[in-house]
Amino acid sequence: MVFLRSWGDTEAMTRDSFYITTPIYYVNARPHIGSAYTSIAVDVVARFMRQEGADVRFLTGTDEHGQKVAQSAEQAGKTAQAFCDEISVHFRDLIPLLNLTPTDFIRTTEARHKKAAQAFWSRLVTRGQIYLGSYAGWYDVRDETFYREEEIVDGKSPSGHPVEWIQEPSYFFKLSDWQQPLLRFYEEHPDFIAPSYRRNEILRFVEGGLKDLSISRSRLTWGIPVPGDTQHVMYVWIDALTNYLTSLGFPEKQEDFARFWPSCVHVVGKEIIRFHAVYWPALLMAANLPLPRQIFAHGWLTVEGQKMSKSLGNVVDPTSLVKTYGVDAVRYFLLREIPFGEDGDFSERALRRRLNTDLANDLGNLVQRVLSFIHKHFEGRPPLRQSSLAEDQEFLFLFPSLLLRVQNHVHRFALHRALEGINEAVVAANRYVDQQKPWVLVKTNPERLKEVLTVLLEGLFRIGLLLRAFIPSTAEKILDALAVAPEARTFAQSAAPYQPVGVLPPLEILFPKVLEDAG
Ligand code: MSP
Repeated sequence: MVFLRSWGDTEAMTRDSFYITTPIYYVNARPHIGSAYTSIAVDVVARFMRQEGADVRFLTGTDEHGQKVAQSAEQAGKTAQAFCDEISVHFRDLIPLLNLTPTDFIRTTEARHKKAAQAFWSRLVTRGQIYLGSYAGWYDVRDETFYREEEIVDGKSPSGHPVEWIQEPSYFFKLSDWQQPLLRFYEEHPDFIAPSYRRNEILRFVEGGLKDLSISRSRLTWGIPVPGDTQHVMYVWIDALTNYLTSLGFPEKQEDFARFWPSCVHVVGKEIIRFHAVYWPALLMAANLPLPRQIFAHGWLTVEGQKMSKSLGNVVDPTSLVKTYGVDAVRYFLLREIPFGEDGDFSERALRRRLNTDLANDLGNLVQRVLSFIHKHFEGRPPLRQSSLAEDQEFLFLFPSLLLRVQNHVHRFALHRALEGINEAVVAANRYVDQQKPWVLVKTNPERLKEVLTVLLEGLFRIGLLLRAFIPSTAEKILDALAVAPEARTFAQSAAPYQPVGVLPPLEILFPKVLEDAG
């Protein structure tokens, strides 16, 4: 099989196609706020790129093989497959719950994936990258990770989990061959690993030397069989990483692969960056396949300052959160509160604070005061009149530069900064209302009132456009209330003046309850 591009050729990324992935989630337990966090962030970027006009593939799904899932199924008294079928649905249910827009949801127990993972393995065999040996060492089942003797402290893995001793025949991948090519690649592609502090961690790790990687398990049966050796199943991480290729139709659909793969960004939690930024590129190079464009690692959420864990009983369920606060409040909070990339804390108190201030007081209030005024005094028919007053131009001038700023932030995954910029515009718009006092103008200067309302509607239109990717249902309600045609909701349209199609429909309440700030 000949692929159009060889590894290293990531320059081929074109702006009109974009591929973004979440990690695939283990089905040993139901989703929690941590898994929702990655998916929401990826969804925002996917929606945003679509709004910029790109053809976007957005992949998410579930990681169903391996010892951890096999053990959880056993404890639940179910067959592994039945257990996976059941839990995978809870992850799929996050799609409507969180208003996510993936173009594919993959399960590693699907036939298409088995085929792709085995084809990938065979490519490595053909290239002399896999050999049979025997593994003896420590294994952390919860991390599904092999650790070295010197990494084990007091019988625990670096993550603090119990480890078990494994001694069995195993296939190995010649990872040690790839230290220099990897270092060269990082050097030539300084943005491959982001944020930059993660890049430094990875550089240090690879510079420290790479040992060959055990990539099969012979005592486990819950996995994809190694081609040509039924005594082994693939190590779950090899199986899992290949999912990113499966979704593009590997090994058959070369066109999709050529179109989307060079633009691919894997967004992952910081704890699994080594798999994505070291093992995965090495495996791809060894298979003579091109590399994705970027690995972006985000931080971890704690809950009220503590690590989230079943034993502490502080696991936050996204379903009940959405039921209480609404999906947009949850999306907004997670992305506005925590600088994307860094660790951050989740608390309902902080969420309520954001909901009350940024969303209800600033945004909700702005939309409400402008639109209810237009309904009250003009029966939903806004009197449009362009103005050339300096104060109006100054306010409107905010928007073209804000769009550029927001685009720049989103392309660098600085999602919190993008929202910060949008909120500044909302605050500026509220200030403009306070200064212009339309409720006075309606009595004293109806001609000037037309100009002021036009300026405000222009502003609201652009705020609605900018918020679409972040809080989609609220933003669509705003654009609906402004009678903006569905096809006029892309960034390409934002240079054109606001143009309602017909009478403005009544405004739906954006944030129904402003909840008490409990202290
Ligand atoms: N199955 C592997 C990934 C394979 S990708 C080829 C895995 N799954 S996981 O379910 O344990 O974690 C998936 C992702 O969930 C993490 O990378 C991270 O993005 C997210 N998070 C899980 N707990 C989290 C927090 N407490 N905080 C933030 N994100 C967290 O690893």
